Amino acid sequence: MSDNEPEDVSIDTETDEAADLTPTATLARLYEEQGSLDKAVSVYKKLLDMEPEREELKEAIKAIEDRLAASAVQPEESKTKATLEHLTGWQKVIGERKKMLYQEGERRQKILVIHGPNLNMLGRREPSVYGTWTLEEIDEEIKKTAEEYGMSADTFQSNQEGDLIEKIYEAIDGYDVLIINPAAYTHTSVAIRDALLMLEIPIIEVHLSNFYRREPFRHKSLIADVVTAQVVGFGKDGYTMAVKAASNMALRKEGAARGA
Ligand code: DQA
Repeated sequence: MSDNEPEDVSIDTETDEAADLTPTATLARLYEEQGSLDKAVSVYKKLLDMEPEREELKEAIKAIEDRLAASAVQPEESKTKATLEHLTGWQKVIGERKKMLYQEGERRQKILVIHGPNLNMLGRREPSVYGTWTLEEIDEEIKKTAEEYGMSADTFQSNQEGDLIEKIYEAIDGYDVLIINPAAYTHTSVAIRDALLMLEIPIIEVHLSNFYRREPFRHKSLIADVVTAQVVGFGKDGYTMAVKAASNMALRKEGAARGA
């Protein structure tokens, strides 16, 4: 390459005019320095056409073409790298979450939901008081909500006091939280109250209606002072509220906290 041309020449790389300049190695280098690699190559090529024997021109062209190829790949590479880093980050998060779920799998919070007499007739039973949802729909919602909160829920309904009591026994060892609507037995059953006293897990008493606003005989819940919390008067939403609260209760081990 000839080096006898001035070094401090600045050229306008934005215009095509520049490409019409007399091709010299200095011009090519200037293009190169200013980052106009395409133009630098084209100048080198013109020079090479004129002086095909000049190996250093071929080398210069090859070096720039390599750079061009690299810079063409570079953005993609860095995009890929960024994507990979992003994915790795998420994989880590997902991994941690999976680990947690796996660990929780052994002690996945289990909720038992017990419905007392006549609640099997929801939908048809005094809809103005209890709403139009069927018990099946409510149970479905309970299970769905429990799943969303990383728990599982079993539901049970009976019109028999004894069956309800037997089911409460299952919660002694088998569940983390009990949600119970004893329905009419709320106001009458010392036996259900006694069964609940055996539990050391949180108990949430749910009622669809706000029974405190109803007939006086409903105003007294025989289990109110045995349970951890009451959810009253929210209709079927009371169950989902109870399930959501249950997830925190189970985690905080409120069963022990309430000294049951
Ligand atoms: C109920 C209220 C009780 O007084 C009544 O006997 C029921 C349902 C409620 O969910 O609002 O059966 O527990």
